[in-house]
Amino acid sequence: MTDAPQSAEDAAAAKRIAGPVLAIASGKGGVGKTALSLALAQAFSRRGQRTLVVDADLGMANVDVQLGLNPAGDLGSIVAGRLTLAEAVAEACGGAQTRGGFDVIAGPSGSGALASLDISAVGRLAAGVAAASLDYDRTLIDLAAGAERSTVRLAAAADDVLIVINDEPTSLTDAYAFVKTLRVRDEGAAPFVVVNNAPDREAAHRAYATFARTCKSFLGFTPPLAGIVRRDEHVPMAIRAQAALGVRSPDCAAVRDVAALVRALEQGVEAR
Ligand SMILES: Nc1ncnc2c1ncn2[C@@H]1O[C@H](COP(=O)(O)OP(=O)(O)OP(=O)(O)O)[C@@H](O)[C@H]1O
Ligand SMILES: [Mg+2]
Repeated sequence: MTDAPQSAEDAAAAKRIAGPVLAIASGKGGVGKTALSLALAQAFSRRGQRTLVVDADLGMANVDVQLGLNPAGDLGSIVAGRLTLAEAVAEACGGAQTRGGFDVIAGPSGSGALASLDISAVGRLAAGVAAASLDYDRTLIDLAAGAERSTVRLAAAADDVLIVINDEPTSLTDAYAFVKTLRVRDEGAAPFVVVNNAPDREAAHRAYATFARTCKSFLGFTPPLAGIVRRDEHVPMAIRAQAALGVRSPDCAAVRDVAALVRALEQGVEAR
């Protein structure tokens, strides 16, 4: 974004092209990580990239619910050793690949199913996701909200992290807590920011500027702004219909914003 506050050093970081495994994180819950992960998957796929979504919300998975899937396996069966990651993949969700479809590894079913997984098991899970990602151009990891050890461990294993905020102060403080915890674990981590559910661009830029200032003051770096996704009623409508947003409303504002976000991630954020 041209009006995002950036030093020369931050602009250089922003030029980075996002790596193939992206973790979608937030501090606060309900900011739109899952909806955004699915819309991103569709947008990457539309650009010809074979894309995998891994629902790694170990406590309260719901990618399958948002898409109306009935997967044969999930992360729970993988952790229990009943299925391999490859066997648990649900293929061509949201349509054929040529029309924006993508593959999904569903999250553990049952509330709190894997929430207390020990950290070495989370490490094995991260390694399994990294191995599965080799068959894809893009892998998106939809994380749980918050800065739990297991969530941060999965984020740190990804090439890049997209931190989702909105214009509510709680989302900013919680996102800051997440980034701080991530940087303790992985000193070089420099997550990209997405402002989701934005009532307008000005409010989104204000939220980003506040967040960026706090990170700069207390952590010494400015996370680059990768994009803004507008508030769009088509998003909850698609979830209620358990349908992929890009199929149901291919031309809505949120789909267009996510397409711009994907271009930014592919071309280097500064190029937008
Ligand atoms: N751009 C948007 N415009 C309008 N509503 C949105 C937008 N993005 C997300 N929402 C709404 O926000 C709610 C939460 O979305 P979602 O479940 O994707 O959030 P989440 O961050 O994954 O939540 P959790 O932390 O529980 O995993 C949904 O009702 C969804 O419709
Ligand atoms: Mg979610």
